[in-house]
Amino acid sequence: MTNDSPSLDTKDEPHETDLDLILARREFLKNTASYGASAFVSATSLNAASALADDQPPTAFKPVSASTNDTVVLPEGYEYSILIRWGDPIYSNGPEFDPETLGSAASQAISVGDNNDGMDTFTVGTRTILVFNNEFTNLEIMFSNRASRSPETNDDVDKGKYAHGLTIVEIKETNKGWKIVKDSEFNRRITPNTEFSVVGPAVGSDLIKTTNDPLGKKILGTFNNCGNGKTPWGTYLACEENINGYFSSNLNEKFTQNRYEKRYGIAKNGQDWGYKWAQTDTRFDVSIEPNEPNRHGWIVEIDPTGERKPKKLTALGRFKHENAELVISTSGRVIVYMGDDERGEFLYKFVSKAKYEAQGNNSDLLHEGELYVAKFYDDGSGKWISLSDANLSKEETVVYARIAASNVGGTTMDRPEWVAVNPHKAEAYVSLTNNKYRGEKPSHPLNMANPRRKNPYGHILRWTPKNKDHAENNFYWDIFVLAGNPYEHSDLYGGSWNINANNMFNSPDGLKFDSRGNLWIQTDGDYSNKDEFAGMGNNQMLMADPGTAKIHRFLVGPKECEITGLTWSPDKRTMFVGIQHPGQKGGSNWPDGKNSVPRSAIIAVKRNDGKAIG
Ligand code: FEO
Ligand code: CA
Ligand code: CA
Ligand code: CA
Repeated sequence: MTNDSPSLDTKDEPHETDLDLILARREFLKNTASYGASAFVSATSLNAASALADDQPPTAFKPVSASTNDTVVLPEGYEYSILIRWGDPIYSNGPEFDPETLGSAASQAISVGDNNDGMDTFTVGTRTILVFNNEFTNLEIMFSNRASRSPETNDDVDKGKYAHGLTIVEIKETNKGWKIVKDSEFNRRITPNTEFSVVGPAVGSDLIKTTNDPLGKKILGTFNNCGNGKTPWGTYLACEENINGYFSSNLNEKFTQNRYEKRYGIAKNGQDWGYKWAQTDTRFDVSIEPNEPNRHGWIVEIDPTGERKPKKLTALGRFKHENAELVISTSGRVIVYMGDDERGEFLYKFVSKAKYEAQGNNSDLLHEGELYVAKFYDDGSGKWISLSDANLSKEETVVYARIAASNVGGTTMDRPEWVAVNPHKAEAYVSLTNNKYRGEKPSHPLNMANPRRKNPYGHILRWTPKNKDHAENNFYWDIFVLAGNPYEHSDLYGGSWNINANNMFNSPDGLKFDSRGNLWIQTDGDYSNKDEFAGMGNNQMLMADPGTAKIHRFLVGPKECEITGLTWSPDKRTMFVGIQHPGQKGGSNWPDGKNSVPRSAIIAVKRNDGKAIG
């Protein structure tokens, strides 16, 4: 690489904080010249000793303390209301959530799905549509009324199935806060049975043909939708993640796993994760339909208005997708950054073949383009390697993108979760949530981009594309924050300089920029508040200033939840935040209180003075 650094090659903003970051990075490089854990111990410039414990965030809020309470904690001057919960009806003829039966397949199919995750708002005239993913279900919660704490009847199985997919609803602010507009023509559910068309290199491929779809052109269903994306042409992207957990081979005891099934996590023993979908739908029995798993693990594109049919975008590759962060490059290409959330998997970039035109018809831009995997070099440089060099056919390259990425030598990462692009600067950030195999398995070697053995706390890495053009193949990178615990550790496990006793967290996951350029960080981590994690409390949301790299805690969730999904009302006076699986281990009654079953929910956060948030 040249002597250019990510910050120095940009002539704008040569302020001190950039220099601090580079210095931190230089110290970091110096102190980690060899990759043994002992080399990290002396990295004092990065530990919490230099943290500014009592500084204040640039946006007006007083940071909140860690909490282990079963409630949502917000800064003084902020308040929240519940917008939507698992099981709330979206039509006036739908029953209210029944706390005794916890619903049926029929009621679930016309109600809000479970485990809300990625989300976005869309504006149609003066109306607001909220689209959100329903990632999965917690069997112990959804079937807490069953002795086995799992689906028992066929109706139970289908109830769980219909709790997956997406929910699309019109919402409106009333004098009692934000509410669903029941019966709006926009309201609908997208489920594991909804029909999608297939676009991109896998259309018509033998790899995706099944009994129901001998032409390989139509796929039923989307499920395990984790993070999301939004296009400038008004569509929503939902990202299929852990699709492997739904397939079993219950009807064939002789099932043996092939190398593709192994790489994509189809269980060796032919068991699913307890959902039992094969019991009511043979598509999910891999001994009957061996290609069905190849039809999932994609990014899907959905028109919130329902005018255009949903599509599976095979050009963006098949893996355990986290989110899809889309940006138009200076050269006019549509860039989509994507993480594959599994230990030792990769960070990807899609570059569209055709260019975006503000006034043109852009709806096919994600049908064709090139897929790349990230390679990180220890000197702070990096490059995107095209998967077209992987020695696979075009269809294999996308259906087995993980294998293509391995063939071309991408850098195995500490579980890439959300990617976020700074709207005011050519740079992108990715959460690397944690990885107990780092430094422990040969395919997870320690390196500068993944520098900690077993990485229990996770980190956020950022990169700047060469020439400030996201379509360029070269970039520079540094580590924005190493999460850690300065109470427990004085080495790298104590975290980078911007972690202190007042803002510590673990397992960064959701990342999103607001329109002002603040970076919001959501966590999906260890909430035990013990040992390595003492003092961190429940999962939380923090705000980072990308310029100074200072981080402040804004929100703490209820017990055993994850904070995931973030968007704003069109006027930015309301911030919608996702509270996923409170009481995952049986320890919460949020949001309905005493003795009630916990329910995933989206909250509407406002300032008391009515001013905009982000
Ligand atoms: Fe669904 Fe990687 O979180
Ligand atoms: Ca996530
Ligand atoms: Ca996660
Ligand atoms: Ca989750």
